Amino acid sequence: MRVEAPRFGPAPSTAADRLPDESAWAYMVRCPDGSLYAGWTNDLARRLRAHKRGTGARYTRMKGGAALAYAERCADKSAALRREAALKRLSKADKEALAAAWQRDNRVTLRWAVPEDGGAVAQLYNWYVTHSTATFQYDTVTAAQYEQFVADTLRSGPFLLAESADGRLLGYACAHPWHTRQAYAWDAETTIYCAPEAVGQGVGRRLYGALLAALRRQGYHNAFALVASPNPQSDAFHRAMGFTRFGLEAHTGYKFGQWLGLSYWQLALCREDDAPAPVRLTLTEAEKSEVLEEFF
Ligand SMILES: CC(C)(COP(=O)(O)OP(=O)(O)OC[C@H]1O[C@@H](n2cnc3c(N)ncnc32)[C@H](O)[C@@H]1OP(=O)(O)O)[C@@H](O)C(=O)NCCC(=O)NCCS
Repeated sequence: MRVEAPRFGPAPSTAADRLPDESAWAYMVRCPDGSLYAGWTNDLARRLRAHKRGTGARYTRMKGGAALAYAERCADKSAALRREAALKRLSKADKEALAAAWQRDNRVTLRWAVPEDGGAVAQLYNWYVTHSTATFQYDTVTAAQYEQFVADTLRSGPFLLAESADGRLLGYACAHPWHTRQAYAWDAETTIYCAPEAVGQGVGRRLYGALLAALRRQGYHNAFALVASPNPQSDAFHRAMGFTRFGLEAHTGYKFGQWLGLSYWQLALCREDDAPAPVRLTLTEAEKSEVLEEFF
């Protein structure tokens, strides 16, 4: 009888392993003259960018652009179309009331994470594990694993959360040592994930802004980010945050039936050529508050 040699690693994930995301959005954007335009989309971030640049609907083009005023996640395209029609039928006063309530509930605040946040962070991250190639992870993570992950990360770097006024986790950003050898001590690897409902609305910029500010204060000299390729949204985001792409590991990961690359991004946090001071493991509570206030 032929004995199979033991194999290493998981069975490759197939296209069928990717959970479908059929959700769509009904939304309103506000034009510079104050008017509200209602629409629907299955890619809120892309549609918002188009409205912002003035390349969205004819109405918002004519008005010179528009910014998000209300968004409602719907089960699928037909539900979003129905909600869009209902929004369009609302009186101006009812539209304004809806937008005001949405604005209130979605006011974003940043705070430092504590290990007990691990469950919520894991839930957000798991959406990308099961729906996206943004992470190379196949298996979902548990709350307990992520409680440990938050605790471990906070030992040497910031772990920041963005929350809505009604208590939903809208995103997280964290940083940990890039390599373990001592000479790398001034390098941090940064990570960020925003909830699908929050992408393209400025949450990432605030979270990463605060994260990078905290790293600078701790005395880190470089931030590195590893971005799955393709991930044009994250590429554009890292470029916008000042990072430069310096390399690509082509064809290095396999997920959902496709080969993926991994691009390397770097941001110099400090330009000093002199010998660096040792990195401080944490900031004082006063410094943490200052960082949060800066990105309030
Ligand atoms: C990548 C990610 C963190 C960016 O956060 P975000 O809140 O969506 O980004 P912001 O709205 O703050 O955008 C900040 C800037 O990034 C750039 N940007 C963001 N999304 C973009 C897009 N889809 N196309 C072009 N530029 C984009 C823009 O310059 C933008 O600034 P502007 O709106 O003033 O022009 C977020 O979209 C996300 O979590 N995506 C899914 C998970 C993921 O890929 N994580 C990264 C793993 S490495």
